[in-house]
Amino acid sequence: MTDKPETNQPIEEAAEKVEVLREILDRYSHEYYVLDKPTVTDAEYDALYRELVSLEESYPELISGDSPTQRVGGTILPGFEKVPHDIPMLSLGNAFGKEDLLDFDKRVRKLTDKKVQYICELKIDGLALSLKYKNGKLIQAATRGDGIVGENVTQNVRTIKSVPLKLKYPYSIEVRGECYMPKASFVELNQKREENGEDIFANPRNAAAGGLRNLDPKQTAKRNLNTFMYTVADFGEMEAASQSDALEQLDKIGIRTNHERRVFETIEDVWEYTQEFQEQRSNLPYDIDGIVIKVNDFQAQADVGFTIKAPRWAVAYKFPAEEANTVVNEIEWTVGRTGVVTPTAIMDPVQLAGTTVQRASLHNVDLIRERDIRLNDTVVIHKAGDIIPEVTRVVEELRPVGSVPYEFPTHCPACDSELVHLDEEVALRCINPKCPAQIIEGLTHFVSRNAMNIDGLGNKVIIQLYEKGLVKDVADLYSLTYDQLVTLDKIKDKSANNLLNAIDASRSNSLERLVFGLGIRNVGANAAKLLAEEFETIEALQQAGKEMIIAIEGIGDIIADSVVTFFELPEVNALIEELRAKNVNLIYLGKKKETVAESDSYFNGKTIVLTGKLTHFTREEAKERIENLGGKVTGSVSKKTDFLVAGEDAGSKLTKAQSLDVPVWNEDQLLETLEGEE
Ligand code: IVH
Repeated sequence: MTDKPETNQPIEEAAEKVEVLREILDRYSHEYYVLDKPTVTDAEYDALYRELVSLEESYPELISGDSPTQRVGGTILPGFEKVPHDIPMLSLGNAFGKEDLLDFDKRVRKLTDKKVQYICELKIDGLALSLKYKNGKLIQAATRGDGIVGENVTQNVRTIKSVPLKLKYPYSIEVRGECYMPKASFVELNQKREENGEDIFANPRNAAAGGLRNLDPKQTAKRNLNTFMYTVADFGEMEAASQSDALEQLDKIGIRTNHERRVFETIEDVWEYTQEFQEQRSNLPYDIDGIVIKVNDFQAQADVGFTIKAPRWAVAYKFPAEEANTVVNEIEWTVGRTGVVTPTAIMDPVQLAGTTVQRASLHNVDLIRERDIRLNDTVVIHKAGDIIPEVTRVVEELRPVGSVPYEFPTHCPACDSELVHLDEEVALRCINPKCPAQIIEGLTHFVSRNAMNIDGLGNKVIIQLYEKGLVKDVADLYSLTYDQLVTLDKIKDKSANNLLNAIDASRSNSLERLVFGLGIRNVGANAAKLLAEEFETIEALQQAGKEMIIAIEGIGDIIADSVVTFFELPEVNALIEELRAKNVNLIYLGKKKETVAESDSYFNGKTIVLTGKLTHFTREEAKERIENLGGKVTGSVSKKTDFLVAGEDAGSKLTKAQSLDVPVWNEDQLLETLEGEE
């Protein structure tokens, strides 16, 4: 077994190593998720993380709740336990314009004779969250609920990487802030949901709420949620004289705060700040719906005091909703890879939140029906999550006389076959497997970066290849010739050769890329990896029954059904035979789930460190090949390292290896030995 060397070491030694690894991983995580300044590559992080996992597997007694390995999300929760807030979670009074801010300033100055400074913070549009730490360890996370009683969402929040499980100081404090979904993750999530015929989220806040209040913490982990903390509710051992001071201290103990905050002396300057961010909000990677203005000094806050509902020392300036009116000229229907047909409103161009908008997704038939959107209607549009234009409502007073409800298409806009509603889906689908639009989308997916990664095969080239009859399915890509490629628009000698090389290189991809590229419904890149890792060959996957698939951790009923149904199709099996005939690799080349214990390979049971620039392969590839042979690649050199492979420009790891008398190999030695063993 690869962990043999570890299981032989005394527990004290393992415990020490576990501590060191946790400390390093916590630091890297903090740099990446809290400071947004990573200092190591993902591969380096992963290597250390795996080392920790394997140590914890060998010594389960060393596992502790605050270990970075304990973030993955445990079992499904039966429900959310209610938890009372020791200190109520209040809301804020609103200000909608400059007048309201001037009034707020007057009220504040009347109630205190201390010098007034205001701190302006972005009002993050998410869900309020309370985090309790005891002796520096996260013991509870709760939603706001009604402000008095919230819901215990600790298991879910533990999966949010910017929330430290352990603070840098052993404080017992309660902090509060906002949990949100970044705009980019929201867009990606909705695209996936739309493609799967699922309901989409109206905005990142709803998507974040769905993620945070999911009974399956593994789902929360997938939503890429993030946090900004903005208040200390219970200071414990912490001392602070003002809000800006408190936020700085949160930074110091490892808690993520928003750094756009600014302190001002006058309400005029506060107003300027609100206007600046009203302009800038669409450029931020997260949604904000206003600015929170707080009296900075805690003694002055105490003078100003509270009403029953909210502090008098703070106010939320709300941005005006960004909306515009325009006219719907046409509704365009497009067919996606899985046959889902989605409507887009084509409208008179109009300026909205910094861009010219002419198209807005209408998502599905139900939405058009519910909002009764008709051709030539004047509609109000807004940007969901500040980015995606959407139709809010129809201005009925402006509806032209004689207008009739929109008539939905009955036939596919691309192949004219009859459209259907599957089961309970809101989506309309074209179920013709030969539909050109689906084939083109399917080809585009097959060559995409996370699938077969064929560089240079953009959508325009694919359309031409399809229209000229050169490519009808993904296997045809592997018979393309130079002469055929140069007949295409914009493809000349060099790009034709590059393309052929890229196609050829994709033949040696590991199985998971192909499994993802085949576009099996509900099988994303992650599920594809799990399937390939488990079954290792496409034959094994083709023959696998539902029970075997479901047994894989992380794969559920829906995916298992999709996989089985997919491989029952005779045309799928014919396609795979064609790919095989064209020398496309159908085997998993990554790290095996279980390394062979009895492997007699040279690498079996050895611990190896890679450093410097490798020229024959990437570090990740070298690592995979070593691991396939039972070796283990770790990130740092120690006495336990069997040898170090030093590429070009090797630095401190090389010096360390030399000082510990760890043998040093060059890349050629590694390559030769690998080839001799494989
Ligand atoms: S301070 C005593 N600061 O806006 C209330 N709130 O009603 C303390 N929010 O739901 C709130 N960003 O979740 C504060 N920088 C910020 C905020 C913020 C977003 C939310 C908060 C609450 C609502 C205010």
